[in-house]
Amino acid sequence: MATIARAHTNIALVKYWGKKDQQLMLPQTDSLSLTLDRFYTDTTVTLAPSQSVDHYSINGQDVTGRAASRLTTFLDIVRQLSGNNTHFTVESTNHVPTSAGLASSASAFAALAAAASREAGLNLSRKDLSRLARRGSGSATRSIFGGLVEWHRGVDDETSFAEPITEKVEFGLEMMAIVIDTSKKKVSSRHGMQLSVETSPFYPAWRDVVADDMVKMKRAIADRNVDRIGELAQENALRMHALTLSANPGYTYFEEKTITAMRLIDSLHQQGVSCYYTMDAGPNVKVIYHRRDREQIMAALAPIFGATNLIVSQPGPGITVRQL
Ligand code: DP6
Repeated sequence: MATIARAHTNIALVKYWGKKDQQLMLPQTDSLSLTLDRFYTDTTVTLAPSQSVDHYSINGQDVTGRAASRLTTFLDIVRQLSGNNTHFTVESTNHVPTSAGLASSASAFAALAAAASREAGLNLSRKDLSRLARRGSGSATRSIFGGLVEWHRGVDDETSFAEPITEKVEFGLEMMAIVIDTSKKKVSSRHGMQLSVETSPFYPAWRDVVADDMVKMKRAIADRNVDRIGELAQENALRMHALTLSANPGYTYFEEKTITAMRLIDSLHQQGVSCYYTMDAGPNVKVIYHRRDREQIMAALAPIFGATNLIVSQPGPGITVRQL
């Protein structure tokens, strides 16, 4: 017997950047994301009664050291919830079109939460899966669901979970990843966001920005207004990145090519193409636009970044789980 789960990654349109409780992984603010169809993780979990430790592999490579202990800490929560103390064998495959550096902990922990909990005999609701995934990685809270998803920050373990705003996004919203650098990030999001919470004088203002952006973004979604969604997402991303520059010590995830991409999208926008950008804890840029403008945006970006480094993604589905 084994359980296999598939979870898609998500990109935040209103970012999560900071925890209030690091142990329970409660965020400082709400956040809102789009699940993507092109990037996902398949994870197979098997109960292994003969093993005295958990075994992990990702894309066929054994996982050891710090990454393995983070996974064990997570599986300990599953063991505690289920009352089943057996260890697991976990095999994960990240599906990304190239080694794009876009596979994130979001799809990984969402898939692991779903596969491990089912394999341990639990039958959790999607809300409870979302709460469990949160304990592995904040952004994984949202990857249980498809489409546009909201994570309520909550006040405790019970109340901090995600839920879909709309799982079927049928108004032309599309995202294009510009792959700029595939190397591992220098400052992990976990460390980076904590530094921002503790040292950026702008952090209190960020809480207000997000509260305001959540209201505006949900209105733009209700209006099915792709242009407004993009505009708000870009503004929110720039303000999140101001929290890295204003931390002590200050740092940035931007590389030169990140700025090049931002300028190019700005100039396309000035020429009347409705396109916007967002960036996460790395140098890659994601373009937000209406699918009718895809060819025009591609034609402008391909000569500079190369067509193979442009990956178009549609809104993606929520988690699937099956037992073999
Ligand atoms: C910039 O979810 O990777 O992508 O909770 O510490 O695992 P941990 O961090 P993670 O941070 C994601 C940060 C972000 C914004 C977002 O996804 O909302």
